[in-house]
Amino acid sequence: RSNNFYDFKVQTKRVTKLCNTKEMVVINGKFPGPIVYAEEGENIIVKVINETPYNITIHWHGVWQRLSCWYDGPSYITQCPIQGGQSFTYNFTMVNQKGTFFWHAHVSWLRATVYGALVVYPKSGVPYPFKYPYEEHIILLGEYWVEDVVKLERSTLASGGNPPPSDAYTINGQPGPNYNCSQHDVYKINVVPGKTYLLRLIHAGINMENFFAIANHKLTIVEADAEYTKPFTTDRVMLGPGQTMNVLVTTDQPIGRYSMAMGPYMSARGVSFQNISSIAYFQYLGAVPNSLFLPAKLPSFNDNLAVKSVMDGLRSLNTSNVPKQIDANLFITIGLNVQKCHSNTPKQNCLGLNNGVMAASMNNVSFVKPKISLLEAYYKKINGSYTEDFPGAPLKFYDFVNGAPNNAPNNTESLTGTRTKVLEYGTRVQIILQNTGTVSIDNHPIHFHGYSFNVVGYGSGNYNPRTANFNLVDPPYMNTIGVPVGGWAAIRFIADNPGVWFMHCHLDAHQSWGLSTAFIVKNGKGESETLPPPPVGLPLC
Ligand code: C2O
Repeated sequence: RSNNFYDFKVQTKRVTKLCNTKEMVVINGKFPGPIVYAEEGENIIVKVINETPYNITIHWHGVWQRLSCWYDGPSYITQCPIQGGQSFTYNFTMVNQKGTFFWHAHVSWLRATVYGALVVYPKSGVPYPFKYPYEEHIILLGEYWVEDVVKLERSTLASGGNPPPSDAYTINGQPGPNYNCSQHDVYKINVVPGKTYLLRLIHAGINMENFFAIANHKLTIVEADAEYTKPFTTDRVMLGPGQTMNVLVTTDQPIGRYSMAMGPYMSARGVSFQNISSIAYFQYLGAVPNSLFLPAKLPSFNDNLAVKSVMDGLRSLNTSNVPKQIDANLFITIGLNVQKCHSNTPKQNCLGLNNGVMAASMNNVSFVKPKISLLEAYYKKINGSYTEDFPGAPLKFYDFVNGAPNNAPNNTESLTGTRTKVLEYGTRVQIILQNTGTVSIDNHPIHFHGYSFNVVGYGSGNYNPRTANFNLVDPPYMNTIGVPVGGWAAIRFIADNPGVWFMHCHLDAHQSWGLSTAFIVKNGKGESETLPPPPVGLPLC
């Protein structure tokens, strides 16, 4: 099997954008970082050399890491961070996986600046299930803060509230002309008429879900989270942080200059979040130079129906991998709440993580990251850093008979703990993720490491087994699902990849407030069902 080698030098770089200059952490001096390419079945070997004073880890988002959980990357879950001056080499194989992925830092909020695309082609000779595109382009959606993101994280967590919206949305690192001092910071694709282009859309942002559209052009979705879909044509798409999508675009419009736009879907977060869109250019060969760009139309920031219509259109091309029977049925509430504060101390001390007033939880447990890697603690049987009692249903407060959990009172408080859920090898699992709305109702993009899952159902309001509609034929197979505002989603997977796997909201503030948990999947029988020992050189805490 062939190897693809990369060196990732973690560095700080002075960057000027939006009339401001700051130092930011990037890989190999690039923002966004280098693109990693491979073919299905090949190895990817990346040596990460940390030349900054910051702790770092890299996560390969969407890669299953089959029998290679040690290289998954979330800090304190599968490894200790790579400290300043140290290095660590990630080495994993794209087993039965191809499509559009990305990589990002998985420590603090550094992934706001440390991210890049990971593109895995089909094995040579294996065609796409659609006509081969004339050309392909990577579109990384991101967010940019003028402030240093390490400081931003610190001040946000200390203040206890939501992070401020980013100062700009970005397309391939560029804010586009709608922002101050950004006339020339615009990403541009030159296209020729009468061709079909493949765009690999990747949402690498940390704080907002976003719509994406191209003026006057239709988008045909052919892949979501690195799994082929039945072609679905739409005017726009919505991606949450952590989601990827391949779309085909045909240049069938009059020769001209068109805009590609990215704007917020902020569900119920309120209008205090800015509504400016980031623009890039989709420019036909032969267009009149400096002529006007046709603006792209984005849905309004609270258009839940626009989001639902895209979700309804996502149907997996492969219909053979849906578990029809389940062995374990978990019910997990996800949401935010306000914790009690004690004002009798000099600095107000609240009961949320980091003494904050905001907490986020799964089944009322705010997840606390351990001091050493969970995977190491599990593998080496080191006691005391976690427990195995993550509840299979909400711990308290919720009373289905009376219409909760979606109507839970707003004074509910979560517990804290490093509680994991243990699964025997091969368990067919269903999880109902119920989005609760105690203080705000967000669409939570829930991401699962180590697996893709079938999204067999979703809906608004409380999950009701009597009325819920399930699709066991062609549900999308994803690794990140936006659990609808005040609604629910049902996912299924077979626990056949041993290791410790993080599940969390891909909005970074929610993750910091504890909206996560970890699944321990035990070994099965024989070598092909057993996690190998840790690699040499795994960082120490
Ligand atoms: Cu893309 Cu745990 O994250």
